Amino acid sequence: MVLEETKVASNDTFDPGALEEILNEYGGVEGAIIPILQRTQAAYGYLPEEALNVISERTGFSLAQIYGVATFYSQFYLQRRGRHIVNICDGTACHVKGAPRLVTTLEEELGIKAGETTPDYRVTVEVVYCLGSCALAPMAVIDGHVVGRLVPEKIQKLVRELE
Ligand code: FES
Repeated sequence: MVLEETKVASNDTFDPGALEEILNEYGGVEGAIIPILQRTQAAYGYLPEEALNVISERTGFSLAQIYGVATFYSQFYLQRRGRHIVNICDGTACHVKGAPRLVTTLEEELGIKAGETTPDYRVTVEVVYCLGSCALAPMAVIDGHVVGRLVPEKIQKLVRELE
């Protein structure tokens, strides 16, 4: 099961090169705002504010319209995320089998709260609710790969191994 497409994290400085290619490709294609945003996010790992300004200028969509689309669809991220995404399931089955301990372990290991990204953009930890693999509870999805029957020591080891 793959829940997250592979994303390339951006550098701190916005490099407009990739966006230019995307906009050239979709130039003149009416209503192409969603594919433009999808491609932009694939290139930068999220939707940088600078990119949204350029997209607005070049497509004629207002910033309000673009933010409206970006916030309506859960696939879009307006904040930079980590190079690695850890989704810990805290649905009912995972919860009763120890998911809260996994979350606490990661929060202590990484020095962040669930929902946050480490300051070096290495890891983002998110809590999700039932990913349909309850037989593997407690489980997580790390960079799109399902890992089941977790214990705190195991999730800690897996996260330490992320580059
Ligand atoms: S409750 Fe975690 S996979 Fe269903």
